[in-house]
Amino acid sequence: MPSNLQILLDHRPTDKVSPANFRVVETPVPEPGPGEVLVRHTFLSLDPYMRGRISDTKSYAKAQEVGAVMVGGAVGIVEASNNPRFKPGDAVVGMGGWQRYDVSDGRDLNVVDATAIPIQAYLGAVGMPGVTAWYGLNRIIAPKAGETVLVSAATGAVGSVVGQLARAAGARVIGIAGGAEKCAYAIEELGYAACIDHKSLTFANDVKAAVPDGVDGLFENVGGEPFLQALRRLNDFARVAICGLIASYQGAPTALPDMRLVLVKRVKIEGFIVSDHMRLWPEAIGEIAGHIAAGRLKWRETIRDGLENAPQALVDLLRGKNFGKMLIRVN
Ligand SMILES: NC(=O)c1ccc[n+]([C@@H]2O[C@H](COP(=O)([O-])OP(=O)(O)OC[C@H]3O[C@@H](n4cnc5c(N)ncnc54)[C@H](OP(=O)(O)O)[C@@H]3O)[C@@H](O)[C@H]2O)c1
Repeated sequence: MPSNLQILLDHRPTDKVSPANFRVVETPVPEPGPGEVLVRHTFLSLDPYMRGRISDTKSYAKAQEVGAVMVGGAVGIVEASNNPRFKPGDAVVGMGGWQRYDVSDGRDLNVVDATAIPIQAYLGAVGMPGVTAWYGLNRIIAPKAGETVLVSAATGAVGSVVGQLARAAGARVIGIAGGAEKCAYAIEELGYAACIDHKSLTFANDVKAAVPDGVDGLFENVGGEPFLQALRRLNDFARVAICGLIASYQGAPTALPDMRLVLVKRVKIEGFIVSDHMRLWPEAIGEIAGHIAAGRLKWRETIRDGLENAPQALVDLLRGKNFGKMLIRVN
């Protein structure tokens, strides 16, 4: 039987995160005790929130402990079970962290149907990022047919679902993404009406040109300068969902501009955290799965092989080097 490869947080980053902040260890495969389940992971999820979790700045969730297995979503197959809810061979999604094997009491573990939808999608479009997209779009922006919705990180795990759900709701959907390849994919595969490359020197003018009727809904994933340009294009009664500010996780903070904008345009700006809305997850996932079954929702993945490459993959995610959901295939 293989050993349990684990990745621990070795020490907190003081500036930008690097692979040296983590340590790889090999331990014996754990035995499940009474009521417990042994899961062999097949994919790990890499997510931007992990940058916040490994710092000790006060946030909405408890900081990752130094010396402990790195937190994170994972999918896998049940190898042994002393819990009546699970049986060997079940495909499951949970928060097993950066390790090959996890022993769980089953509370944070859910059986999924990996026959119609690939198992790793439960870490993406039919998992936490998909629900995030669904919540911010439907519960904060609530687009009406014909309105314009602007989405940053438009081809990413969250953004790609936002764009397609907004389009299905009848909105004119405009993306912001990094580079020509991502923008072409946004338009040709995800159905965005237009996509603006935030790396372009003419970015501010490009935003203006892409939204001649202004923006009614802004789904913000990035922050920084692109966010400020997007705010300038808001219409009266616009809704802004603050989902993420990835440009600021290792860079300058994103500040609000003159609040007169919010007053005179009667804008609603609302931040949200998807884990505050657990009771809505089944409804959100059901709706997203329906769109997938109908062939209306696509996604893309960047898959890196090998658990030991998770630290570098996190570094790359935080530099925007992924194209779609960032995953580690565990072998
Ligand atoms: N509120 C919540 O509950 C919640 C839940 C999940 C995720 N989020 C947030 O949602 C956002 C998207 O998350 P995701 O998992 O879907 O990630 P992702 O979009 O798959 O990947 C991150 C993307 O951000 C873009 N980006 C733009 N500027 C960047 C910069 N300066 N540094 C790094 N990346 C930059 C890059 O795309 P381009 O090259 O196209 O710009 C990059 O590929 C993040 O801000 C995340 O924190 C929030």
